[in-house]
Amino acid sequence: MDLFDSPLEKERERYEYLCREIERHNELYYVHASPEISDYEYDMLMKELEEIERKYPQLRTPYSPTQRVGGKVIDEFKSVEHTIPMLSIDNTYNEGEIKEFDNRIKRTLNIEGDICYVVELKIDGVAVALRYSNHIFSQAVTRGDGFRGDDITENARTIRSIPLRLVDTAPNSLEVRGEVFMMNKELERLNQIREELGEEPFRNPRNTTAGTLKQKDPRQVAQRKLSAFFYEVILDETNKNLITTHTDTLNFLKKWGFPVNPHWKACKNIEEVIEYCNSWREKRYSLEYEIDGMVIKVNDHTLREKLGTTSKSPRWVIAYKFPAETARTKLLNIKIQVGKTGALTPVAEMEPVPLAGTIVKRATLHNFEELERKDIRIGDTVEIQKAGEIIPQVIRPIIELRPPDAKPFPLPEICPVCGSKVQKDPEGVFYRCLSTECPAQLKQKIQHYAQRRAMDIEGLGPALVEQLVDKGLVKNIADLYRLKKEQLVQLERMGDKSADNLMSAIQESKNRPLNALLYGLGIRHVGQHLAEILANQFRNIDDLINVDTEKLIAINEVGPVVAKSIKDFFSTKANVELIEDLKKLGVRTYEVDENINTVKNILSGKTFVVTGTLKNYTRDQIEQQIKQLGGKVTSSVSKNTDFVLVGDNPGTKYEKAKQLGVKTITEIEFMNMIKEGI
Ligand code: IVH
Repeated sequence: MDLFDSPLEKERERYEYLCREIERHNELYYVHASPEISDYEYDMLMKELEEIERKYPQLRTPYSPTQRVGGKVIDEFKSVEHTIPMLSIDNTYNEGEIKEFDNRIKRTLNIEGDICYVVELKIDGVAVALRYSNHIFSQAVTRGDGFRGDDITENARTIRSIPLRLVDTAPNSLEVRGEVFMMNKELERLNQIREELGEEPFRNPRNTTAGTLKQKDPRQVAQRKLSAFFYEVILDETNKNLITTHTDTLNFLKKWGFPVNPHWKACKNIEEVIEYCNSWREKRYSLEYEIDGMVIKVNDHTLREKLGTTSKSPRWVIAYKFPAETARTKLLNIKIQVGKTGALTPVAEMEPVPLAGTIVKRATLHNFEELERKDIRIGDTVEIQKAGEIIPQVIRPIIELRPPDAKPFPLPEICPVCGSKVQKDPEGVFYRCLSTECPAQLKQKIQHYAQRRAMDIEGLGPALVEQLVDKGLVKNIADLYRLKKEQLVQLERMGDKSADNLMSAIQESKNRPLNALLYGLGIRHVGQHLAEILANQFRNIDDLINVDTEKLIAINEVGPVVAKSIKDFFSTKANVELIEDLKKLGVRTYEVDENINTVKNILSGKTFVVTGTLKNYTRDQIEQQIKQLGGKVTSSVSKNTDFVLVGDNPGTKYEKAKQLGVKTITEIEFMNMIKEGI
């Protein structure tokens, strides 16, 4: 048999095709932001590739897109020597210093005419070097001390915009250097999750990037979506004449599939450089990532070589740093916010002040420990900063300007909203209100429950929740489903039409998938991702409620702390009652298996009668479910009835079934039946 006809060779061909195709789509999505296929189609390609790798593990390669999810935990990062040192760059802070840089270069080179520079954004991230051998990504190294860095290959592999294999036209041996960074939106997403977990938020994208790249578990890195831009190329002897200018560098990088920041300009003299730098002073706030200045580089590589380097930095490059984004203002008050898990957060209310493109009047003080440590007092003039974080933070008080009567802010002993006792987390920095009836917590809980990612009740915004709770119309989540239109129309800013819309949004939320409900319940440590895993695993809230801790811990993503939090939630009386209440009100607490519904007519030809109250379905829902699966529902029991589904307090139909010898089943039996097929 011809070798290429063997099944393995066929698979290898398909495997190679899929690797290239998926990576092409990765590049389209992550580098060019112009995807050609839907997420679903992408997932299908990935699934096929995973399947081939499962069947034929010998085909798996390090450049396979499946390797981006992160592999084994690393014991220690290997130290690697840089091919040429990764030097830092000198800084300038004003036009005069930029002109001085230009003059120095002209003097050194003995040139009278203008020098051509390329100006780029100075990305506020972490410098890395990537090495490629025979077009395959082989190593990633951090800057370290400039001479040696850490081998972070497996972490870098998870960054989707970093190509794992280069186009054939790229040099065989190649090193590129650039910046790994985090988009502001990603930081926001991670912080939302951290907040749910009761963990302190990350302060800014740069530190988060640095911390992420130092993670020993690449799977963790894969989950924090990092980005990258590249701006330097190092070629070996064979290819060294390929690139003669920095514009060449940027164009080649792009051609070889690397992400290159689109905002750069080749300037014909230093005046143009200054103008371009200044044009970014304000515009930088419209970017989706942080920059801390501009980088000015001599374009011509021959000139670069002539200029050479000092021991610290090359003479052909300089950074122009934007002035620090801080402002001073007066701290008028400290308000305490109560989160949905009762965590108290101090928030600074300040005299409005312009900062980083917006007017700021509120800033976070993070937590009481920090407030105490920084000794920030009401009446202080404070320095505030916006350095990547979405909400500005108070850096320090200006002690010289402190009014003599300013007193330290007392640690909270009671909740500012409900007056209940507060307690400090044994394992963390947060003080929490312990009351289960605190209206502030309830408001946050309802808002969390109603948000799009949870039960998606459109129109149930903060102002409305405020009114519903303050007027006593909603005392717990279940009360939302007891609201009447007449009550809604009496609220402020609530017309007839909005009341109708809200009523139907509440109604529709009853049918949200189980993962949305689990997330919406606001169980500590259960974020969106874990809610999905739990819903998939248990498929029914009762199975999750009754599961023992060991089984929970056996789930990959669940550790002892998370398991305890889930168990605690479901063994709190108020929560158990809430779930029973939600069921009675018709909220779906189980997963509907779409495959069974549409693909298999597993109840075809079977006739059902339902009697008594069910826990997981309303009457409408159960009848619909049976019909969807091909079954029939009738109202009276006869010898033609196949099953009588018996709930709580069944009526005479149950007796009749027993008399006629018709099979009776419980709700759980029914659910198992449709899960497993009959
Ligand atoms: S060029 C030898 N270009 O800023 C020249 N650096 O403060 C290599 N950075 O270590 C650097 N954006 O990590 C260059 N467009 C850019 C940059 C950039 C950010 C970082 C880089 C460097 C640091 C110096």
